[in-house]
Amino acid sequence: MPLVNTKEMFEKAYKGGYAVGAFNVNNMEIVQGITEAAAELKSPVILQASKGARKYANSSYLIHMVKAASENFPELPIALHLDHGDSFELCKACIDDGFTSVMIDYSGHPYEENVAVTKQVCDYAHDVKARGRYITVEAELGTLAGVEDEVAVEFGKSSYTDPNQVEDFVKRTGVDSLAIAIGTSHGAYKFKPEQCTLVNGVLTPPPLRLDILDEVSKRLPGFPIVLHGSSSVPQEYVKIINENGGALPNAIGIPENELREASKRAVCKINIDSDLRLGLTAGIRQHFAEHPDHFDPRQYIADGRANVKAIVAHKIKEVLGSENKA
Ligand code: G3H
Ligand code: 13P
Ligand code: ZN
Repeated sequence: MPLVNTKEMFEKAYKGGYAVGAFNVNNMEIVQGITEAAAELKSPVILQASKGARKYANSSYLIHMVKAASENFPELPIALHLDHGDSFELCKACIDDGFTSVMIDYSGHPYEENVAVTKQVCDYAHDVKARGRYITVEAELGTLAGVEDEVAVEFGKSSYTDPNQVEDFVKRTGVDSLAIAIGTSHGAYKFKPEQCTLVNGVLTPPPLRLDILDEVSKRLPGFPIVLHGSSSVPQEYVKIINENGGALPNAIGIPENELREASKRAVCKINIDSDLRLGLTAGIRQHFAEHPDHFDPRQYIADGRANVKAIVAHKIKEVLGSENKA
C-alpha cells in the first residue's frame, strides 16, 4: 500500500488502547530492522526523519528507502513523518517531497508564535485541494529536556505541559496530534542516578506525570497524544557497549511499564530513537570484539540491524501493544 498519514492509525490506536511506535531512521539497516519486525508482527509503524537525519542521509535517500520498505511489505501501514521540524519551510519541503506526516516543533517559542506557525503548517498540510492528499501535523506544548543532534534543551529549562492551554491550542491551530511533556526527555541520559531509587536492585526514576496526561485527555477527549523521549535505555545493550570499548556511564531511560500504561490511555504515538542507536552500536561493538579480523560492513552492520529488529519487536509486543493491529 502507499505510505499513509497517521489519522486512521491514531483513531484505531486510541480506541484499541495501544500506541504506534515512531522510530527514527538514518540509514538503510535501521529502516530494514524496524520494518522487518513490524511486518512480522503485523504492526502499523511510523518511520520518522529528523532535520539531522536529512542532513546526514539526504532527504531523497530516506524517502526512497522508506518507499522501498513499503514495497517490500505491501500489507504494512507505514507513515513517513518529519520529526521536530523547526520551521514552516522545512515542513513544507518535506510535504512537497512526499512525507505523509510532519511535526512542527515551536514549543521552545512563546505560546502565540507556536499557535501561529503551527496553524500555518496545518493550513498548508491540510489543503487537500492543493496537495491532493491530507498530511497529518503534530505539534508540541511544553518542552522536553535532553540533547541530541538538532534538538537541545538544557535540563532545568524543560517544562511540563500546561493542561490549561491544550484546548485553545488545538482549536486555533487545527493540529492532528499533540506532543506533551510529562517527564520524558531526549537521549540516553534521562535521569541522574541520584534522582532514582533502588527498587528490587534496579535504579528506578521518578514516575511519569500520568496525572497531566489524564488532565490533558479530559480536555481533549478522543484526541491523540504523542510522547517524545521514550527510550528505555535497555541495560543489556549499555552493558555490551561498555564491555566492548564503549563508555556510557549511568545511562538511564523511562521504565517500559510506565510507557505501556500511557499507551493504554490517550497516547497514540511513542517516539523511540536512542534505544535503536544503542542496539545498533552494541551489535557492531560486539562484532568487532569477537571478530577483530572483519572489515566487511555487511558482517558487522548486520549484527547491529539484528539488534534493531529485536528491539522493535520487543517494543511492539511489550510496550506499544500494537501487535496484529496492522
Ligand atoms: O528527538 C530527536 C531525535 O532523536 C532525532 O535526533 O536530531 O540527533 O537526529 P537527531
Ligand atoms: P529518545 O531519545 O528517548 O529515543 O527520544 C526520541 C524522540 O523523541 C524522537 O523525536
Ligand atoms: Zn523527540
